[in-house]
Amino acid sequence: MSDFISANLKKLKDNKIPNPEIDLRILLNYSRCCENEIIFSNFKREQIDIKKFNSLLKRRILREPISKIINRKSFWKDEFYVNKFVLDPRPETEGIIEESIKIFNDKKAHFKILDIGTGSGAIAISLAREFENAEIVAIDISEDAIKVANNNIITKNLDERIQLKKTSFENIKDNFDLIVSNPPYLTQNEIKNISDEIRNFEPLLALYGGDDGLDFYQAFSKQINKNLKKGGYLILEIGESQLSDCREIFRDSGLKFIKKEQDLQKKDRIMIFSKL
Ligand SMILES: C[S@@+](CC[C@H](N)C(=O)[O-])C[C@H]1O[C@@H](n2cnc3c(N)ncnc32)[C@H](O)[C@@H]1O
Repeated sequence: MSDFISANLKKLKDNKIPNPEIDLRILLNYSRCCENEIIFSNFKREQIDIKKFNSLLKRRILREPISKIINRKSFWKDEFYVNKFVLDPRPETEGIIEESIKIFNDKKAHFKILDIGTGSGAIAISLAREFENAEIVAIDISEDAIKVANNNIITKNLDERIQLKKTSFENIKDNFDLIVSNPPYLTQNEIKNISDEIRNFEPLLALYGGDDGLDFYQAFSKQINKNLKKGGYLILEIGESQLSDCREIFRDSGLKFIKKEQDLQKKDRIMIFSKL
């Protein structure tokens, strides 16, 4: 391994950056000025723009997530543009796509989907790809997030399929067969304890769900009957200890709790309800 690689790996390790080898390789490739993929074993300094590399490395040492540095994050079957104005789409959220596919197993079905708090657009775009005839509305209150979602929707040629709106859920009058949401759900306490990577580089608007984290679920449950068609489904992401509260909140709105799914850490993460 070259001295350059060893020295920079050491910098990442000394700063307690997790997965330093993976990150270094990504940063080298992101600052490369040659065509071929850079690997440690045959690395030569002239393969990269040193000034660019040093500035990227500095950002990583300041704990900026790799995804925000390279403006890319993988989700489901795609890669998405991301920046500091949107939450990085996360693997646990893919449960929403998996469960939608299990419920609506006819991939050619014509039906209407609402994605509340679309952020990067990852959920709406993944559903549009899975269900080629679905009509999709994706909303967010953040103007900056809407710009990011719009960028992703256009890059993936889905602007005819996904209607993007800068608005809050309270303004949605239409009704849908499937409503999905990964809303802000962290409690006041959880917000106090989040890592610097999240605190400094993810938008608070995407995270904070009020004192007990339940603000969105409580407010949306009051209008769910207006927006969800009879026989329709609601699929939500929740915080790890919100299962019983959310069950009660939507039961009070007359929805039937179908099931929950856990994430890879065995935490309750996805809830599915239906309207009888
Ligand atoms: C946890 S992020 C989810 C982003 C994306 N759907 C994902 O799963 O990666 C929540 C999003 O909800 C948006 N949001 C917060 N309050 C909202 C509201 N009242 N109406 C619509 N969107 C809202 C935030 O701006 C943020 O983009």
